[in-house]
Amino acid sequence: LDVPAFRAALLAWFDAHARPLPWRAGSEGRRDPYRVWVSEILLQQTQVARGLTYYDRFLTAFPTVQALAAAPEAAVLKAWEGCGYYARARNLHRAAKLVAAQGFPDSYAGWLALPGVGPYTAAAISSLTRNEARAVNDGNVRRVLARVHAETTPTDRWVQARADDLLDPARPGAWNEAVMDLGATVCTPRRPDCARCPVSAHCCAFRQGDPTRYPAPKVR
Ligand code: ADE
Repeated sequence: LDVPAFRAALLAWFDAHARPLPWRAGSEGRRDPYRVWVSEILLQQTQVARGLTYYDRFLTAFPTVQALAAAPEAAVLKAWEGCGYYARARNLHRAAKLVAAQGFPDSYAGWLALPGVGPYTAAAISSLTRNEARAVNDGNVRRVLARVHAETTPTDRWVQARADDLLDPARPGAWNEAVMDLGATVCTPRRPDCARCPVSAHCCAFRQGDPTRYPAPKVR
């Protein structure tokens, strides 16, 4: 894999086609940590299209981390209504009280220490808000990397190692969202649109002719 060429092709595509999502406002590596944090918690179990409505409603109810921290739990759960997985809202509220008192974390490790923030979310927030070089690893990333490398059974450790190798150290936040957008809009599970893919020239699965073979369905 020609890593520099792969990075350049994917980032050029992202610069031209990034989805205009409300939590993406602000310059690269300097976005509002509160908005990024809320969006990443929301998108853990909710698709972007559905998440947008909830995101707007939640930000209107609690525009700042101080507003969220000061709210009664019942109001937070009410604003979360319809999103499911209410533990996410409870953890976000608990964490907001810590952040309102201490300030926002300034690193991956700091984010990871907050309730409800796991490795995926800490990597997303620290890369998007500070350009910390942390590669996200979710279902989209797994599928994209499995296809690029023609790997049928990617383990979590394998995905993280490949994602760490590929991450563009100059633009980690843009890189992470570029892979997310590619997985969500082009390199989709059942009908990948390889004709529109900016990195098909670098993709082993494309070369073999049947990208949907990768990754193989998980055996349970
Ligand atoms: N899914 C989770 N986080 C996302 C983000 N920042 N942009 C697009 N899709 C996402």
